[in-house]
Amino acid sequence: MKILVTGSKGQLGRCIQDVAKGYPEWQFVFTDYKELDITDSRAIENCFKEYKFDYCINCAAYTAVDLAESQVDKAYLINAEAVKTLAEACSANNSKLIHISTDFVFDGKKTMPYTEEDKPRPLGVYGASKLLGESYVQDILEEYFIVRTSWVYSEYGRNFMKTMLKLGNENKEISVVNDQVGSPTYAGDLATFILFLITNKREEYGLYHYSNEGTISWYDFAVQIFKQFGMKVNVNPIPSKDYLTPAKRPDRSDLNTLKVKKSFEFQIYKWEDSLKKCSINFKSTLNGHRENQ
Ligand SMILES: NC(=O)c1ccc[n+]([C@@H]2O[C@H](COP(=O)([O-])OP(=O)(O)OC[C@H]3O[C@@H](n4cnc5c(N)ncnc54)[C@H](OP(=O)(O)O)[C@@H]3O)[C@@H](O)[C@H]2O)c1
Repeated sequence: MKILVTGSKGQLGRCIQDVAKGYPEWQFVFTDYKELDITDSRAIENCFKEYKFDYCINCAAYTAVDLAESQVDKAYLINAEAVKTLAEACSANNSKLIHISTDFVFDGKKTMPYTEEDKPRPLGVYGASKLLGESYVQDILEEYFIVRTSWVYSEYGRNFMKTMLKLGNENKEISVVNDQVGSPTYAGDLATFILFLITNKREEYGLYHYSNEGTISWYDFAVQIFKQFGMKVNVNPIPSKDYLTPAKRPDRSDLNTLKVKKSFEFQIYKWEDSLKKCSINFKSTLNGHRENQ
């Protein structure tokens, strides 16, 4: 089994590198921007020709949601056009593609968690560029998994948990929005699910929603992060109108994960349990037991 992982220095890519240690019989080729720029179609073509991958896991993405509003071309180039190139390379080389997408394809107007059947309507450039990437994959390939996920955090890279820890170390009191709700996803759990998609023999290709269990606000998440890390920080709930950002975010973007549970009989953990797991991994990273970034 030969598996290409793009964007492998991002938070999901790093977690896949950790989980991949449990599959020593597989040959992983981990690449990031420097080794394989997914916008370079010639490099993609050569890489696929050289290795003849069974799977490509695309973790590379333009994830700067606010910056995307002013860097529109760059967001579309990485999140859509490069995904088209990857899908074409998979098609030409009989490789299966596992592509990661986002809850931000939705407008947040629904009153229940979003299913795979719900009609996307992105509010910003990031979500729109990711949605176009999804449609390229669906048009070009039959053997693909698109995994939409939400509110991703981990011990690696930049994310909400690490931002809260930094703010909490610098301030006794912070304000966090309480009128946007969603489901946090520990990238370590998502990485486990992605490699499970390869090990399980059910070739039920298509679009899936994966997040940890439970719907909370950013405020709830911040409170629990400080509790988990034993930090005394006063968190004030504020409405999003008091925290304006260049990109509009959905009020509600939690994902219904029933299709994953039914199709694969895969256990999805509650967000509180996964936050605990991540905090343990983060602390061991800080203590030097794991490689840090
Ligand atoms: N983070 C979230 O909250 C969230 C929520 C929903 C869905 N997702 C999706 O989940 C996936 C993984 O996200 P993540 O949080 O792991 O993102 P991340 O930490 O930003 O990682 C993305 C990686 O892709 C790399 N990259 C960017 N442009 C590239 C290019 N042209 N060629 C090769 N590599 C490139 C980045 O390198 P540089 O850092 O050097 O640019 C980075 O290492 C993405 O598809 C994202 O859209 C994320």
